[in-house]
Formats: sequence, structure tokens, C-alpha cells
Amino acid sequence: MADLSVNFAGIRSPNPFWVASGPPSNTAYQAHRAFEAGWGGVVWKTIGDPIVNVASRYSALNVAGQRMIGFNNIELISDRSPETNFREIREVKDRWPGHAVIASLMVDTRERWHEFVKRAEDSGADGIELNFGCPHGMCERGMGSAVGQNPEVAEIIVGWVMEAARIPVIVKLTPNITNVVHAARAAKRAGADAISLINTINSITNVDLDTLTPEPHVGGYSSHGGYCGPAVKPIALNMVQSCAADPEVGLPICGIGGIGGWRDAAEFIALGSSCLQVCTAIMHRGFRIVEDMIDGLSDYLDSKGHAGIDGLCGASVARLSDWKYLDLHYKRVARIDHDTCIGCNLCYIACEDGAHQCIDLVDSAPYGLGPGRVPGKPVPKVREDDCVGCNLCSLVCPVDGCITMTPVDTGRPKMCWDDYQTRLAKGEIEPIPAHP
Ligand SMILES: Cc1cc2nc3c(=O)[nH]c(=O)nc-3n(C[C@H](O)[C@H](O)[C@H](O)COP(=O)(O)O)c2cc1C
Ligand code: SF4
Ligand code: SF4
Repeated sequence: MADLSVNFAGIRSPNPFWVASGPPSNTAYQAHRAFEAGWGGVVWKTIGDPIVNVASRYSALNVAGQRMIGFNNIELISDRSPETNFREIREVKDRWPGHAVIASLMVDTRERWHEFVKRAEDSGADGIELNFGCPHGMCERGMGSAVGQNPEVAEIIVGWVMEAARIPVIVKLTPNITNVVHAARAAKRAGADAISLINTINSITNVDLDTLTPEPHVGGYSSHGGYCGPAVKPIALNMVQSCAADPEVGLPICGIGGIGGWRDAAEFIALGSSCLQVCTAIMHRGFRIVEDMIDGLSDYLDSKGHAGIDGLCGASVARLSDWKYLDLHYKRVARIDHDTCIGCNLCYIACEDGAHQCIDLVDSAPYGLGPGRVPGKPVPKVREDDCVGCNLCSLVCPVDGCITMTPVDTGRPKMCWDDYQTRLAKGEIEPIPAHP
């Protein structure tokens, strides 16, 4: 059975699943429950100078009956006193010495950073996470994403922390930035031990069409909130891979954003994360989700012959490159399995109205009757010569495996954009004809 234990930038944990800084990591009571359920680490709800929260605080994007596809909050950092939080970290650490407890911190001046780093260390925390990501409230006070969005400022503040820190320092990055790599490089230059990403994304989830008030509202008014949950996973994966691929960053990465199951976890690991954090999925379904995450990841690693997560970590990073390196001669086409096709024609209309008009509706007689198909009703058939292999029909088809995107050997050698330009300039080849 695969060994899931991790040593993340010097912080040891029985598995890579950590509770992210947020409502589920607010108290010792919750940390005990999380560890009892199987979580490997807890990043405490961000500790700083006392704040005051508002009511209400959360809103959600529900899609086609699925609740909380996206989740939004206008909550600030911990509203408990630093004394209480550090005392409870000590209590949790004493009871769970083999588990990771990370103090997430956010203060303003150099003196305050020095003081809070010292208090975190004195509490027995295994590491410190710097919250440079909160996109509401705290950024208006010059903290959170106001720091993460400005690599020069981030570098200075990480430098202040490193002056005082003797335990590992993780810099948590904001996605509310044009290129997150610049912030990651700033963390590296300042001497940080690791990065974690992503924090929440600036958002408005919805407007109540009776009151015309955006949600969540506070007495009829709202504020830009932080977006997270399943909907943000693609953005988080993109940013994690960008940092993992950048030769100047070279720091361990803790992946965060939309993780709800072991498959999400494995994808984050393949794209360069050696540790993971989860918030929204716990708020939705509770701490017990970690059991499936552990079993699923462990089984997956076993099935691929990996002894631990190191074997998977970063395995997909080099599978991404700039578009100009992709093979212009690679071709694949859509093929429909008429034995499983239910004749809904979603593929036909998608290709006809949204793609390249290369699915015909043809006489069904030669194909027999698939499940649920009406005798005499035409069936879809792809004109493979005209199919551009865009994937759209296979994405809309409701029957798994019914449309297969199949590679076709064109007999033409691999040629990327740069080769194409060079060979065109030398007159070695004719231009690839434009589509009619
Ligand atoms: C209600 C709420 C409060 C949060 N508070 C904090 C916080 O205090 N500090 C912090 O670094 N991140 C905070 N986060 C962000 C999460 O730690 C995490 O980065 C983000 O939610 C993305 O992960 P997820 O998709 O698993 O939720 C909060 C998120 C939510 C939903
Ligand atoms: S892959 Fe694209 S172009 Fe080809 S049949 Fe499907 S929708 Fe049409
Ligand atoms: S979308 Fe799928 S099931 Fe529906 S007609 Fe096309 S191939 Fe058949």
C-alpha cells in the first residue's frame, strides 16, 4: 500500500490532506475532529489583530440542481483573540504531535510580523503560512491580497518574516493577479520555504432579482467576495502548474482550490503539488470526506506502481507548454458508437450550431436500434474528412464512451508553429490551406 506521508518543506504529516485556513480550522475543537477523521494537517484560521465580522457572509453558485458548485464569502480573518488561538494551537499540538499544525498569520508592520512569528513558534506550530490572499476587507487595510498582488511589497514582507522565523514559512498566494509566477518568485527571492495557492478569487455570485441586492448582503448592501469550491479548480490547477514549471520558483507547492475528492487531489499532485489543502468541500460535507480521499489516492498510486506521492508529483508539469510547440499535423476525429447512442441528437445540434457542421443525420437502418432510439428516426454520423476534432460533440454527449475522439494517422510528420514558419520562409512547404 502506498505511503501517503509527506515532508512538506520540513513539515511532516501522515498524509498530504490538510484543512485549509478558514471556518473549519477556527478552533481546537474542530482541529481535534479533523485529526480524528484522518486529516494530516490543519492550517489555522488566519490569526491577526482582532477584527469584526458582518452578517451575512456566504453565497453560492448552484448549477442545474447541484449546490455550491462555486462558493463566495466576505468573511475576514479570525474574530477570536490571538491569545485564544495560540493557546489552542498549543493544546492541539500537544495532543497530535505527529500531525501538522500551521499558524496562518496576517498583520501589518514589521514589528507585528516579528511578534506574531514568535508567538506562533512559541505555540508549538510546525510552520507559518502568510495570508497574502484575502481579497476583501483586509486588502482595504493594506493586507491580504493587497500584498499578494504586489510582488515588491510581498518580497519585503516575506523578508521581515524570515528575519524572525525559525520554522518553515509558506507564502499563500492570491489568484487575483495577472501572473501569479511573479509573486511566487518574490517569495522565493525573500527566502520562503514553500508556497501555497490559491486563495479565493474576487467575485459576485448572484443578484436577488426581487430586491436587486447582490448576495451575500448586509442590510441590503454587499461587497466583492472571495470565490472558491469546485468551480475554481481549473484556475487553481493552471496557477499551480505555472509555478511548478517556472525554473526561478523552485519551491514546494501546496495546492488549494476546489479539491473535493481523490481525483482532484491526484490532478493537483500531477501538476506539481506535494501537499494539498481543502476548505469548501469540508464546509459542504464535513471532515469525513478525507476517508475517501485517502483510500482513493492510495489505491490510485498502487495501481500506477508508485510507492508514495513523490512518484506522481509533477508528472504532468512538462505535458504543458506554449501553444506554439503543439503539433499542427496531429489529427483526431469523432466516432459515434451506434450501439450505445440514444439518438438525442445533442451532438448534431452542437456541431451544427456551435462547431463545424460535419455531423449528418442519416438513415438509421444500417445501424440497428440503439437503447431508446425510435425506429425510422435518423441517427448522427460524422463526416470524418470535415471533422476538425474539436471535442465538442463528445463533451455534450450524455452517454459516456458513446463518442470517442480517435487519433487518425495522416502520414504527415510532426510540425509545430515555429517549424511551420521556418519551413514556409525557406520555401520548403506550401501554406496549410485555410478552411472553406
Ligand atoms: C468562508 C471562508 C473563509 C476563509 N478564510 C480564510 C482565512 O482566514 N485565511 C486564508 O488564508 N484563507 C481563507 N479562506 C480561503 C481558503 O483557505 C482556500 O484558499 C479557498 O477557499 C480555496 O479552497 P477551496 O476551494 O477548497 O475552498 C477562506 C475560505 C472560505 C470559504
Ligand atoms: S469533434 Fe467537433 S467538428 Fe468533429 S464532429 Fe464533433 S463537434 Fe463536429
Ligand atoms: S449526443 Fe451521443 S447519444 Fe446523443 S445522438 Fe449524439 S452520439 Fe447519440
